[in-house]
Amino acid sequence: MQESQLEIDPVPAHVAIIMDGNGRWAQQRKRPRLFGHKAGVDSVRAVVETAREIGVKHLTLYAFSTENWHRPGFEVKGLMSLLKTYLQVELDNMKTNEIRLDCFGQKHRLPEDVHQVLDQVMAETIDCMGMRLNLALSYGSRTEIIAGVQEIARKCSAGVLDVRDIDEQLLSDNLYSADQPDPDLLIRTGGEHRLSNFLLWQLSYAEIYFTDTMWPDFRKSQFLEAIKAFGNRQRRFGRTGGQLESK
Ligand code: IPE
Ligand code: IPE
Ligand code: MG
Repeated sequence: MQESQLEIDPVPAHVAIIMDGNGRWAQQRKRPRLFGHKAGVDSVRAVVETAREIGVKHLTLYAFSTENWHRPGFEVKGLMSLLKTYLQVELDNMKTNEIRLDCFGQKHRLPEDVHQVLDQVMAETIDCMGMRLNLALSYGSRTEIIAGVQEIARKCSAGVLDVRDIDEQLLSDNLYSADQPDPDLLIRTGGEHRLSNFLLWQLSYAEIYFTDTMWPDFRKSQFLEAIKAFGNRQRRFGRTGGQLESK
């Protein structure tokens, strides 16, 4: 069936994904963990393409957490190398499909060559208006919030900001996601039911979809299933179901 014929209503404007389960997927197949990460890259391709196709406007993928630096050096190296290749290979594709790349996280902690490719892809796609693709790399939500609070405190002590001006919008404006809306839908693959320090501020009213499917098995149809499940949720934002129905 063509995607255009699929009943997807509404399409979430912003989808965030914790891409988990690569290592276990590989271990189940008696292969090294990096084999799972490689297969996971194909899931990234499939999900980015599908998101663009159905009209998602912002897609945020948790690719590497600040905590992931504690993994064995060999695995970290392998992940960085996969990331670099992904960015190099996908640049043309992103431009063709009008996808703008951004990085949420501590770019300066990434290896120099990865940092460079990332900057290049971000610069070359800056005018793309079809979809924003945010890769969370060396990302940790608490660190992000603290940096935002520090920036606000600096402005207050310099006298350019008054304490009474601090509100939710101002903190949002001082996070990596500053000019983008909060996620409507969070997907976590791999069977774990936790947030793992991901977008703690931004996810405050997101719908959450957990699936046992390991990330390398999460492709187009699994993604569409999650989007359809989102369509069946009633987002009440504190109101009653009755209030929403009488609207
Ligand atoms: C997610 O898969 C990818 C990263 C965290 C980089 P994992 O590597 O965490 O896979 P599991 O959870 O060990 O199966
Ligand atoms: C979360 O996965 C980070 C990414 C998907 C990049 P982890 O597998 O690292 O999460 P925990 O540590 O098991 O919660
Ligand atoms: Mg994991």
